[in-house]
Amino acid sequence: MTYILGIDSSCDDTSASVVVDGSLVLSNVVSSQAEIHEKYGGIVPELASRRHIEMIWPVVEEALKLASVRLETLSGIAVCQGPGLIGSLLVGCSFAKAVAYAKGLPLIGVNHLEGHIFSVFLLEQRPAFPFLSLIVSGGHTSLIRVDAFGSYRELGRTRDDAAGEAYDKVAKLLGLGYPGGPLIDELAEEGDPESIPFPRALIPGTYDFSFSGLKTAVRNYIEKVSLNISSDQSLMQNVCASFQAAVVDVLVKKTEVAVKKEGIKSVTLTGGVAANRQLRAAMKEMAERMGIELYVPPVALCTDNAAMIAAAGYLHFVKGDIAGLELNPRAYLPV
Ligand code: KG4
Ligand code: ZN
Repeated sequence: MTYILGIDSSCDDTSASVVVDGSLVLSNVVSSQAEIHEKYGGIVPELASRRHIEMIWPVVEEALKLASVRLETLSGIAVCQGPGLIGSLLVGCSFAKAVAYAKGLPLIGVNHLEGHIFSVFLLEQRPAFPFLSLIVSGGHTSLIRVDAFGSYRELGRTRDDAAGEAYDKVAKLLGLGYPGGPLIDELAEEGDPESIPFPRALIPGTYDFSFSGLKTAVRNYIEKVSLNISSDQSLMQNVCASFQAAVVDVLVKKTEVAVKKEGIKSVTLTGGVAANRQLRAAMKEMAERMGIELYVPPVALCTDNAAMIAAAGYLHFVKGDIAGLELNPRAYLPV
């Protein structure tokens, strides 16, 4: 059996996980930094790195303990190499290199997006190649055609804000907390998604996304109606529902066009925004209408986690794709 320890410290969560044979998750520990960044309405990179340094060993220790696995039992260590915040990545990479060196273990560098793509390999039912991977998180919004492990074509990506970033920025405009996604998701549940016609940036002829215009439209609307959170709950709910409808509409429509043009039979939805109930429902409806299969991991495997890094790391490991100690983090790293 192959035991891979996965480590992810790419953004604001410190995570470690032990996965057997690239499919069975023995542990998946995530230490969230949301409380630290909440008062700033977004991630403060320096604070994120410092917290990773404090948490990396306790989180790894906990993951090994929950899996009843010792460092010596491991077959290899897979670490997220990028893309992400460079100071944050540096902590995970330095730690993984040190442990790999000290214990004589193979080291595997994993692209964070590759991790999100192969998080679906942790499901009981895996998608067959080729599949379309929609990754929607706080840092990424990408539509990727996956023909095999290691064979990817990014069809489109966001030109400005990521979908989750738009959620977080709109939440900040509305005076809500951080991360904004779950809060807007909750408020939108009671609102009317058709009450405010926010713009949909469909950018014809490309699979690229853009969410900054939508964010500005929400800001203009709030200024126009002088929205006061405490005084008008139903208006707040309507803003959330209408904003969310615009985001979901664009994500689903673009995916639908790609499914048709690429002749794809399976779609995967991952990343933190994949936790969104409206997005999940709309993608499911689209998949049923198009007669294709939709794969959406449970929320714990959608948001940043190390199990997905271990899953992708295992695929590198069996290919003999082992990194040397010269492995360095990269803030920008295309799949
Ligand atoms: O994948 P993730 O944990 O970290 C990044 O790689 O960014 O995604 C975090 C993002 C945040 O922007 C958060 O607001 C968003 O995912 N998010 C949601 C929901 N839960 C988390 N967005 C919409 N609806 C949700 N339920
Ligand atoms: Zn991510």
